[in-house]
Amino acid sequence: MLTIKTPLSQAQRLKQFLIKNDFFNRDYQPKKENDFIYFPLNKKPTKLKFKNTTIHHRVLPKIEKPLTLQKLLKNKLTKKQLDLVPSAQEQIGSIMILEMPKELIKKEKLIAQALLQVNRNITTVVKKSHPHKNVFRLRKVKIIAGKRTKETIHKENNIRLKINLEKTYFSARLANERLRIKKQIKKPEEILVMFSGAGPYSMVLAKNPFVKSIHGVEINPLAHRLALENIKLNKLEHKVFVFQGDVRTVLPKIKKKFDRILMPLPKTGEQFLGVALIKAKPGAIVHLYAFLDEDKIAQETKKIKDICKQYKRQIRILRKVQCGQFAPNVARYCFDIKVIK
Ligand SMILES: C[S@@+](CC[C@H](N)C(=O)[O-])C[C@H]1O[C@@H](n2cnc3c(N)ncnc32)[C@H](O)[C@@H]1O
Repeated sequence: MLTIKTPLSQAQRLKQFLIKNDFFNRDYQPKKENDFIYFPLNKKPTKLKFKNTTIHHRVLPKIEKPLTLQKLLKNKLTKKQLDLVPSAQEQIGSIMILEMPKELIKKEKLIAQALLQVNRNITTVVKKSHPHKNVFRLRKVKIIAGKRTKETIHKENNIRLKINLEKTYFSARLANERLRIKKQIKKPEEILVMFSGAGPYSMVLAKNPFVKSIHGVEINPLAHRLALENIKLNKLEHKVFVFQGDVRTVLPKIKKKFDRILMPLPKTGEQFLGVALIKAKPGAIVHLYAFLDEDKIAQETKKIKDICKQYKRQIRILRKVQCGQFAPNVARYCFDIKVIK
C-alpha cells in the first residue's frame, strides 16, 4: 500500500495536512520506526511542503472495525428480515433474552449466534417460551445459542444478583425504578419489601446509608433461596432479613411497623394493600405497583382510596409514575402513597 515516511518531529503537522486534504487512509494504522513514522495514504499527495518526507510502498496493520449485527447478517437475511431484527433486547447478566418476531423464527439460531459474536459480554442467548405466569410469576426460556445455562450474575446499581431465569421473577428493566425509590430515602428508615423475589429491591435500597433495616417476604422457596445467596454476595447480612411464605401469614409474625413498604406485584398487588396498611407507621410511604390501561388510572385511584378508608388510614397519593410497558396499551404504574395517619 501507499505510505508516506516522515521524521517524528513533524509527524503531527504532516498528519493534520494529510487528513485535511483527504490523503490519510483511516483503514490502516501508522507505524513508527526509529525516529520516523509511516502514515497510510489514500492517494499520492500533491503540493507537499514538508522536508525529509518520502513515498513508499509497504504493508501497514489494518484497523479492526467493531462487528455489527447488521454487518454479520447482511448476506444471510433479506433486507426485510434485517429490518425486523429487534434492536433492544433484555440482558440479564451474561444472558440475552430474545423476543423474536414470528417472521424470524426460522432464523433465530443464526441471529442468536451473531448476537454472541457482537456482544462479548454475552455467553448465552435464550428466548421466552411463555410470559410470566402463576403466583410465582415465573417464565420458561429456551436456550438457542451459547453456554447451556439459565443462571447468571446480574450487576445493577452497584449490587450483584444471582438470578436463575426460570426459578425466580426478575426484570433488568426495573433498574431505574429501583434507583428512583433508593433516591427518595433521605432519613433513617425501616423498610418492608413484600413479594421480594431474589431480592433486587432489597439489595438496591439497602445500599442507601440511611436504611436501617429491610425485611423481605417471598412465597416462592427457590426465589427466597436466591435472595439468601444475594444477601451474602452483597455483604448485607447485617441489614437485610428475608422470610419465606405468604405475606398474609408471615407479616403478622413480624412484630414491627415500617417507614416504607414496597409492593412489587403489579398483577394483584392491591389485594394486599390492607395487609400493607396494617404494617405502615404514620407518615410511611407505600409503593404500590399495578398494570393499567391509561383510562383505568382514575378507577384504580378510587379503589386505593376506598381500601385505605376501609382500613381507617388517611392517605395522600403523592404521585403516579409510569415505569414500564406491559402490553401495547397497558403500562406498569407505581402509586407512591403517603400514609398520613
Ligand atoms: C413480580 S414478582 C417481583 C419479585 C421481585 N420483587 C423483583 O422485582 O424481582 C412478584 C413476586 O411475588 C411473589 N408472591 C406472589 N404472591 C405472594 C404472596 N402472597 N406472598 C409473598 N410473595 C408472593 C411471587 O412469587 C414473585 O416472586
